[in-house]
Amino acid sequence: MSRLVVVSNRVGIPDGKARAGGLEVAIRPAFKQRGGLWFGWSGKIADDEPGPAEHTVRDNVTYVTVDLKKDDYEEFYNGFANRVLWPILHYRLDLAEFTRRDLGGYLRVNQFFADNLEKILRPDDIVWVHDYHLMPLAKALRDRGHKNRIGFFIHIPFPPAEIATALPNHEQLIPALSYYNLVGFQTETDATNFARYLTTERGLRRLDADSFAFDESDVRVGVFPVGVETEPFQRLARRAVNSSFVREVMDSLSGRAMIIGVDRLDYSKGIPERMDAFERLLTNFPQWRSKVTYLQITPRSRADIQEYADIARQVGAKVGNINGAYGEASWTPVRYINKAHSRTALAGLYRSARAGLVTPLRDGMNLVAKEYIAAQDPEDPGVLILSRFAGAARECTAALLVNPYDSEGVAIAIDRALAMPLAERRQRHADNYKALLANDLGQWAERFLATLERPHRDAIQAPRPRRAAG
Ligand code: UDP
Ligand code: G6P
Repeated sequence: MSRLVVVSNRVGIPDGKARAGGLEVAIRPAFKQRGGLWFGWSGKIADDEPGPAEHTVRDNVTYVTVDLKKDDYEEFYNGFANRVLWPILHYRLDLAEFTRRDLGGYLRVNQFFADNLEKILRPDDIVWVHDYHLMPLAKALRDRGHKNRIGFFIHIPFPPAEIATALPNHEQLIPALSYYNLVGFQTETDATNFARYLTTERGLRRLDADSFAFDESDVRVGVFPVGVETEPFQRLARRAVNSSFVREVMDSLSGRAMIIGVDRLDYSKGIPERMDAFERLLTNFPQWRSKVTYLQITPRSRADIQEYADIARQVGAKVGNINGAYGEASWTPVRYINKAHSRTALAGLYRSARAGLVTPLRDGMNLVAKEYIAAQDPEDPGVLILSRFAGAARECTAALLVNPYDSEGVAIAIDRALAMPLAERRQRHADNYKALLANDLGQWAERFLATLERPHRDAIQAPRPRRAAG
């Protein structure tokens, strides 16, 4: 079996620290069966020239990381990746701030990654590149003569061509994905948007349902929705619910029902809109006042970027207003916490919450939604309220699906979740749990890698979307 080389900007070296971000969580189990090497940024910024790559070995995985120079961090990470690609791929043209300088930094860091990878790459390695930071990496490797099979998976959405073409230099960046042998997406919509871009914008010829002719090779497009490790997470939650941490939290609620939200502090997550919805609940359904506490765990993210500082201020102000207007000496309606929590702590909290509020304005998958389902007690489960604009909504169709822009509608869904009869909660949970089992995280990596390794142009089939319950 070929060695697996994973490349991503973030590298999840196990260090026992709680961190938010779905990419790390998704990738780690890919190594379980075959081991391999994980290459990327160390998370450190070098004062001057970065030193040689650092190698760390844990279990059967070698982690190879490089530092970034200050300019590279600014232009590649804060600049092009997170101030241009992130908003545009999340359909937020209004937030994109393009500069040629940042684009230059983005391309430079991709070359820097290729230079470092080259030192460790063997001809028969299978290379799996992740996310929007590294779209041109396959081309950089091909230009250096590497003929490995290289796959790309994008964890975030891919918008329709009408939006993607607003990306300055899209003619250079998006077609560069064709140098990968396989490009994977979270949902059919993302894959269809990309395929339409290739045919209408670039005139690539479709060879069959999933392949397009490009240069002398061809590129495949597939749908590989990320899952969670459903049963292990269920077991973790069952244990974690009895931890002293979770008991202490639940005791502090004095018997009130808990609603939980867990998100990086990011404008794509719809947190201010969700606060509005909770406020609507307290206004339109006053019977819930003092009966329910909303716990929002929101680790800070990409804090050097203005839009992220703005969203932090906005959410803080909304929380303050709700607590000021509706709170009582004995009840704080919203508990808002910026500290990252371990996945064990989250598992226990999910299981203890009567409702999970996952209402992004746009999200590639949203693993929190799936973790919330996996963590529930099947005999007495909580209810997931899920944005129709999260990738997870394609599979978790037995959740209460909502439009996150409609705060009144979300408030109605929260009321419905809190009042939902046990039989309906059980049925919805059973349906959602079944959907998770049908697409477990271990199968995700295996399916992607098997497709990447397969030489023929066989059809790539996504798990079928499930029909909505009730
Ligand atoms: N997470 C965590 N600790 C926290 C907050 C989040 O471990 O304090 C994890 C969470 O369990 C989930 C991931 O971070 O696995 C977030 O992934 P998701 O797909 O929901 O969103 P992303 O942050 O990748 O946009
Ligand atoms: C999302 C992205 C990942 C990213 C993570 C955390 O999951 O898809 O690529 O690693 O957010 O963001 P950060 O900027 O801290 O790496």
